[in-house]
Amino acid sequence: MAQVKQEETLKKIVSHAKEYGFVFPSSEIYDGLGAVYDYGQNGVELKNNIKRYWWSAMTLLHENIVGIDSAIFMHPTIWKASGHVDAFNDPLIDNRDSKKRYRADVLIEDEIAKFDEKIDKEVAKAAKRFGDSFDAELYKTTNPRVLEHAAKRDELHNRFKAAMEANDLAELKQIILDYGIVCPISGTKNWTDVRQFNLMFKTEMGSTADGSMNVYLRPETAQGIFVNFLNVQKTGRMRIPFGIAQIGKAFRNEIVARQFIFRMREFEQMEMQFFVRPGEELKWFAQWKEARLKWHKALGMGDEKYRFHDHDKLAHYANAATDIEFRMPFGFKEVEGIHSRTNFDLSQHEKYSGKKIQYFDPELNQSYTPYVIETSIGVDRMFLSILCSSYEEQALENGETRVVLHLPKQLAPVKACVMPLVRKDGLPDKAREIVNMLKFDYACQYDEKDSIGKRYRRQDAVGTPFCITVDHQTLEDNTVTIRHRDSMEQERVAIADLPAIIDKEVSFKELLKKLV
Ligand code: GAP
Repeated sequence: MAQVKQEETLKKIVSHAKEYGFVFPSSEIYDGLGAVYDYGQNGVELKNNIKRYWWSAMTLLHENIVGIDSAIFMHPTIWKASGHVDAFNDPLIDNRDSKKRYRADVLIEDEIAKFDEKIDKEVAKAAKRFGDSFDAELYKTTNPRVLEHAAKRDELHNRFKAAMEANDLAELKQIILDYGIVCPISGTKNWTDVRQFNLMFKTEMGSTADGSMNVYLRPETAQGIFVNFLNVQKTGRMRIPFGIAQIGKAFRNEIVARQFIFRMREFEQMEMQFFVRPGEELKWFAQWKEARLKWHKALGMGDEKYRFHDHDKLAHYANAATDIEFRMPFGFKEVEGIHSRTNFDLSQHEKYSGKKIQYFDPELNQSYTPYVIETSIGVDRMFLSILCSSYEEQALENGETRVVLHLPKQLAPVKACVMPLVRKDGLPDKAREIVNMLKFDYACQYDEKDSIGKRYRRQDAVGTPFCITVDHQTLEDNTVTIRHRDSMEQERVAIADLPAIIDKEVSFKELLKKLV
């Protein structure tokens, strides 16, 4: 039941995003392209505001962090050095009857999640039976049926974890067969063997006459930072510790792309690599963990919607890693990763390029390969988390329902909509005057169509924090009514006071001040 409700919520958000110009399926008139999306007129504004918030927090607030914009195409040896050619794989399996392709690990993870759902159901049933005195935690540790489900879940989880760690593809298939996992489309267990599938997109550069070269579309922006480490350090005279930030597209040929813009084949990342002295990395890791959570929480979407998920299984080059997860309608999901990547990447590039990539530390009077703390967040996932958290169907006192996006006001695509009460008596001209006054600082709209109520609803649906109405009194005393999106309260204010009122709520300055 809860699962159905979650799916319905996501469906509503997806259709709202389309209806109001946030996100469209790519190539829609050709029936779309799997896991590729376009951002519409409101989506691009929201996305740009998210990027601006991140970029400002990194580069304006830290004098030792600078940005770059490296190319998407890079020398193919970079991906050999980084390990992506050999190890950026997902285990895939095909169903022979439906001809559908799945990630073997996801099929098993879904099976593990079913045990958790069974446990949740038992607990919900008991909560109903026992009422207020019910202690869910106690019930989970004592009820025999719950314990049985938990034991089965742990058994499967341990077997799965061991198979993944040993890269044992035959065992992954055996688990799928032993647990009777069927294809959701054909309903059969007619599975192929499990194979490794590299997620990088490959293409050719140069004409064949010159001899073409296989190149990859970058699967992360991070490597563009590593290979420019020396360029930036030297030209910017950067001293360790310092960071390099980058926002850009990344591409992954995801086998299973689900949940709207959560897992895409073309997406955008905001990554920052922070270079530190060897031995100091865990101190910096802890600092960046806190700093990044603070950045998320400052948006005011609710502290309870975030949690850390520390990794117990680390990549061979990492010595600490955590995810910041956000509560989406389909559960807590990773939005950002924070990784202590040791000196792996710089050392690998030194090895593969044959160029010395080291830093001379004047305080220590010695050269070393810096260690790296990485913060890596997906713009699209951040966008989805904001959309999910903001969407509300609100029952009003008059029996109507309004759909409202409670977007963090600084990130809203439109900050204010100015509306003449009627389309005559000089009110449109006065309203246009106000737009002309505000438009240099704030994204504004002018709307004179339909009733005021309908115009308010349109702005609520795209999350506009302020609606400003010009009426006959405005012509007499230069005052307007300003309506606040979340409370729907209206107040009469002087036109001259509008910039200050709006600025207080939408200014990036106030938001960024919360971070220092
Ligand atoms: N440089 C490290 C790195 O790329 P990652 O955990 O693979 O780490 C970082 O990706 C972030 O990029 C994720 O937390 C997520 O927000 C985003 N991301 C990764 N794959 C994605 C996909 N297929 N679609 C959308 N966002 C994705």
